[in-house]
Amino acid sequence: MADGSKLTASCSTLGYAMASATIASAMAAETWVGRGDERAATESAAAAMRDALNIIDFSGRVVVGEADGSILNVGETVGTGRGMELDVALEALEGTTLTVKAKANAIAVIAAAPRGGLLRAPDLYMDKLAIGPGYERGVVDLDAGAGENALRLARAKGVDPREITCCVLDRPRHEKIIAELRKVGARISLISDGDVAGVISTTMAETGIDMYVGQGKAPEAVLAAAALRCVGGQIQTRFAFKNEAEKYQAQRAGLKDAGRRYELEDLVSNDIIFAATGVTKGALLDGVKRVGRAIETHTMLMSSGDGVVRKIRSVTPTRR
Ligand code: FBP
Repeated sequence: MADGSKLTASCSTLGYAMASATIASAMAAETWVGRGDERAATESAAAAMRDALNIIDFSGRVVVGEADGSILNVGETVGTGRGMELDVALEALEGTTLTVKAKANAIAVIAAAPRGGLLRAPDLYMDKLAIGPGYERGVVDLDAGAGENALRLARAKGVDPREITCCVLDRPRHEKIIAELRKVGARISLISDGDVAGVISTTMAETGIDMYVGQGKAPEAVLAAAALRCVGGQIQTRFAFKNEAEKYQAQRAGLKDAGRRYELEDLVSNDIIFAATGVTKGALLDGVKRVGRAIETHTMLMSSGDGVVRKIRSVTPTRR
């Protein structure tokens, strides 16, 4: 395994360079906010991120990439080819639908680890359960019901279950989870998309979210785990295969025992740098704003080396 300490020690340079890539993709995505064109939004964000990555001195390999479209797919190399060898997970636009409908919580996101440090997650669904930092390991359990987990978390936090708030993707497949949470009295914050932000919100007290539960895409699980590896928290996941073809897809992606549970260390097994920039205003980050002749962006940059969450406000002149 490559030396992760070198990666996090260089967070000041490499990390800020990674942040410039999420800033570039967020600014490109902003052009498509509220315009209803998902393909244009995705492609424009991905092209901007790729261009920004390709001027950074590192030898990058996309291991978790864009599912659709023709750029930043799994296997693509990024960077100048000089410098550290890194694996990269990215979503140039996480929340495409949110973006084109001008709804909250769309972000551009990237994580980089020494080679082999990220699970090569295929574009399949996973059951996910996540909580923020400060709890004993295993206080919640993917195999317990959502209601039971809300009760366990309430006990660990020393509060009534009615004071626990769970973030859940608003999907018919989550009817049972929602019913169980309602039964124990927990609050539910239903989101229409964007479970990377949903999971990360469990780590930030100001969001009021205690637990994330439900089924979403596996690449998003790796990105969310990357953030948790920096700031603490727990995530438990398992592929939710719909058929044999999906099992085979996971095997082809190199997952030998894909039926097992994947926890934080399985999703992200080495030091990591994580950056996310808001596209539309959300609980985690402000969105891209046009202010006079400038574009303002808001980014969070973190590294597992020090756990510091750096907030970057950038102001890019549109004309000089
Ligand atoms: P976008 O495709 O609009 O970017 O949506 C992303 C997302 O909401 C993820 O955050 C989540 O993991 C997944 O889609 C959920 O998939 P589905 O919409 O099929 O339920």
